[in-house]
Amino acid sequence: MIQKYRFGKPFETDAVVVKQPDAAVFGPDSTPAVPYFTVKKVDANAQTDLSVGRFGPSAAKPVKDAWQFTLDLRKGDIVYGLGEAQRGINKRGWLYISDNVDDNTHTETKYNLYGAHNFLIVDREDGQGNFGIFLDDPGIVRFDVGYTDMNKLIITASGLDFDLYFFSGRSESGKPYAITREFRGIIGHSYIPPKWGFGYGQSRYGYENEADIRAVWAGHRDNGIPLDAIYLDIDYMVGYKDFTVDTKAFPDLPALSAELKADGVRLVPIIDAGIKVLEGDALAQEGIDNGYFCLKEDGTPFTAAVWPGNSYFTDYLNPAARKWFGSQYKFLLDQGIEGFWNDMNEPSIFFTNDTLRRGVEMASSIGIKDYYEIDDWHKLMGSAFGTMAASQYYQQFYHMVDGEKILHEKVHNLYGYNMTRAAGEAFEELAPDKRILMFSRSSYIGMHRYGGIWTGDNCAWWAHLQQEVKQMPGLNMVGLLFTGSDTGGFGQNTTEDLLLRWIEFSIFTPLFRNHDSKGPRCQETYLFTDKKAFANMIGIRYVLLPYLYSEYVKAARNDDMYFKPLSFVYDSDPIAKEIEDQLMVGESIMVAPVVTQNATGRNVYLPEDMRMIRFRSGEDYDSEELKAGWHYVRCDLAEVLVFLRKGRLLPTAAAAESVSRLDEEHLRVYAYGDGSYTLYQDDGFSKDFDNPAHRKAITVKDGAVSADDVEVTLR
Ligand code: GLC
Repeated sequence: MIQKYRFGKPFETDAVVVKQPDAAVFGPDSTPAVPYFTVKKVDANAQTDLSVGRFGPSAAKPVKDAWQFTLDLRKGDIVYGLGEAQRGINKRGWLYISDNVDDNTHTETKYNLYGAHNFLIVDREDGQGNFGIFLDDPGIVRFDVGYTDMNKLIITASGLDFDLYFFSGRSESGKPYAITREFRGIIGHSYIPPKWGFGYGQSRYGYENEADIRAVWAGHRDNGIPLDAIYLDIDYMVGYKDFTVDTKAFPDLPALSAELKADGVRLVPIIDAGIKVLEGDALAQEGIDNGYFCLKEDGTPFTAAVWPGNSYFTDYLNPAARKWFGSQYKFLLDQGIEGFWNDMNEPSIFFTNDTLRRGVEMASSIGIKDYYEIDDWHKLMGSAFGTMAASQYYQQFYHMVDGEKILHEKVHNLYGYNMTRAAGEAFEELAPDKRILMFSRSSYIGMHRYGGIWTGDNCAWWAHLQQEVKQMPGLNMVGLLFTGSDTGGFGQNTTEDLLLRWIEFSIFTPLFRNHDSKGPRCQETYLFTDKKAFANMIGIRYVLLPYLYSEYVKAARNDDMYFKPLSFVYDSDPIAKEIEDQLMVGESIMVAPVVTQNATGRNVYLPEDMRMIRFRSGEDYDSEELKAGWHYVRCDLAEVLVFLRKGRLLPTAAAAESVSRLDEEHLRVYAYGDGSYTLYQDDGFSKDFDNPAHRKAITVKDGAVSADDVEVTLR
């Protein structure tokens, strides 16, 4: 059952597409009553937890009055959800703040990341009275899940205006999975990328010209390492200006793109949120003339520095501005480009001219000395320059929505979502018969209809590989199915073993991209010693692709999850409830990646008897049956373990160098006993997902396999 409560006059976020009736409406002076929680009005400024915020103590300045919801938690209660948020699958024991931020060092003690996903589930220790809650509030929201008091869940809204939804699960069973499905049923179907978007992609902030791209292409093909995409970071543009191509570096982008495409490789350029301030520039002028940019209090465009230098910020909340920005992608679509990544869209702001001026003045007031007192240093670094990239700017500009001027901070978390929506809506018009690859850094619930996300600027740390495994189910709960992290780590120097282990997990994430920053050592796989190992590991992604793609599309169409925590499947198994480093991938398999350095294996918990398949390549594998319970299993570098459930099937193909070369007419199916499977197959481009011809039954009975329309051998 779904119950919706309206508080004040919320901003329409378009997160929910299946509108729900109001169970009650509460004005600012009412005494609200909602299920499960006690409600009170708090002076948000007075809260102790306000000492945290974006990049430091002084940043977040919420409105004075806010509704706060408090619930007692029992020892064994589990809290699931909050999308991209850091820490565990069980969110207990930390404070999470929905306040989208560009933070390139997101350690476990940070409070906020790039996305705001205000959906969580309370799974009671006795299974009675479970519920899901979605706070549709685009401002700064606090989820204190046992941070102030270990036994309390305290949710503080951004103010007095928002919609609050409760879910008890369609079947009334109160199981977290049923609750998730009920929630997903009202936010619309998830985005489905073109099939090549599931292939392996290579990226680096630092590819500067056509020669760099050709070297990456050759590096893969010469070493038999599969490749479907090469990403173009900001250096392909002229002065980091959106919708331009530096023709000195890329003299003929359409020709290059066509040549690569003939070999099954696509170029995927980045698009940044900020538009360069440039005298006489047609795009900037068009934005100014039509009022498409966010404004300052005085009605003039707000500008601040990001990669292009001083930049305007498109008012994506204004439908006309959204349409205008979206239409610009045509410039690159016309050059043969079929995919994009949207970046810096929290929006990220480095500084404004005002803060830079203040910083320089303060620094010069200290001057150059032979000896600095520590206070001088703090003034210089802390006050002068240290706080320039802070949330202060979000209180300095406005959106115009239906003639109303809205302070950015009140709708802050919608920015990246609406940039990606701008692109998604435009693609429907510009390329109606085609799927375009699209993923974003920043997001809010609802963006899953237009694209996926990557998990932002991680580091080459084993901890970040471990973190990524835990982020996947939360993201899937809010419909963000097309996800993955910067494989190998974006910041810092990776190592060959970390990259291999990371790939061993990323083989299962729908977005599979190796991305790296400018400073650290290069991490293209062919630069390391054991090139064959990388070719085999990435090849296994293509081996598994018939199954992974089929499970992805079915999850997207059925408002289901592709990655699930074990507890969503084995919901009466107390051990499964505590497992945070193994995941269910689709209906047939479980994965248990090795995520610690120098480990030659790991402990794996099997909630039921399973067949463990150890892949060294598509052709080289062995398998054994394992009984339910704990097992120590060996898993060397360059091996991938897949745990197949009893009665389920795993359709696979032979490895291929690109998705376009995958032979999906001849499949090899792994089985564990008799079973049946509905395989989803299509051309990878068109959008007739519900065409019954795309669903093919595969059956294994008494050791014999049969299938519709595909030749299948049993393994
Ligand atoms: C941001 C992005 C990163 C990109 C860089 C340069 O840090 O998160 O992926 O490489 O900007 O564009």
